[in-house]
Amino acid sequence: MYSQGLIGADGRTREDEEFLARFQARIDDEQKIEPNDAMPEGYRRTLVRQIGQHAHSEIVGMLPEGNWITRAPTLRRKASLLAKVQDEGGHGLYLYSAAETLGVSREQMTEELLTGAAKYSSIFNYPTLTWADIGTIGWLVDGAAIMNQIPLCRCSYGPYAREMIRICKEESFHQRQGYQILLDLMRHGTDEQKQMVQDSINRFWWPALMMFGPHDSDSPNTAQSMAWKIKRMTNDDLRQRFIDQTVPQLEYLGCTAPDPDLKWNEERGHYDFGEIDWKEFYDVVKGNGPCNRDRLRTRRKAIE
Ligand code: 3HC
Repeated sequence: MYSQGLIGADGRTREDEEFLARFQARIDDEQKIEPNDAMPEGYRRTLVRQIGQHAHSEIVGMLPEGNWITRAPTLRRKASLLAKVQDEGGHGLYLYSAAETLGVSREQMTEELLTGAAKYSSIFNYPTLTWADIGTIGWLVDGAAIMNQIPLCRCSYGPYAREMIRICKEESFHQRQGYQILLDLMRHGTDEQKQMVQDSINRFWWPALMMFGPHDSDSPNTAQSMAWKIKRMTNDDLRQRFIDQTVPQLEYLGCTAPDPDLKWNEERGHYDFGEIDWKEFYDVVKGNGPCNRDRLRTRRKAIE
């Protein structure tokens, strides 16, 4: 059931200089690493960590939106939200299956989530207070997820790269339906509903930027993940690309971002933006966000 390629699992392979150089040459040659290939333990562990946390994010990410399935304003919106939340469950299952090809069990990963040994994306620890939040999550959160996941379609680990292709296609529907919710409210809504949209963007704008992780200079994993072509772009580059793509959509909505420093920089060819509140980021990652306890309690209840 588990990969026979694990270093030491079969006793036939050792991580000496020659093996590591041969492995890196395969990565540099853009070869896909498959479950039964011999791989450095660090490569395997990095993938188990990232894919497992990605899977946890998909499953925990169902909770904030699930709250609104029974409260959706029309049958059409309810059907669309139901389809999206079901998709997220499917993404979680694909990702847990990919992690299992690396010799870890779903039970083990779930245990690590519940004990706090494994993370999930900080964004899912914020509450969904209004219907506009469902639109903002689709547009901003799934939009950020797409930005981060498109490069993962070219990840060096075969199973992860291949499942990203299908996941990204489904995320595009998620982003589109979210933006449509906000566009309808801004075009046909009352002043109060338009304010509800702006309030939602004010609450989710910065947490969505945090999804890309700490600055590259503060990221302990990025350099090695880039060398192994698990990551194809750095946290800061993806964040910048997301902002550059999202601001015109924000303006088209007729809304603003809660960032007075956000403005186009002709010289850079990018938007300048303010500093992220990294204290908030690490507080939420450490488990002290608005909904962390509620999310894990719900996951624990579902498993028990
Ligand atoms: N929330 C929680 N933890 C985070 C985080 C976030 N937003 N950003 C970074 N971290 C953690 C990392 O996991 C790492 O901790 P660890 O070493 O204990 O795992 C630490 O902070 C340092 O961050 P690094 O940048 O060094 O870590 P990575 O190289 O792993 O980069 C990442 C972080 C960019 C999130 C990367 O793991 C990644 O690309 N993961 C795959 C995509 C993913 O998981 N996206 C999450 C959202 S999924 C989603 O939104 C579903 C959609 O359907 C809505």
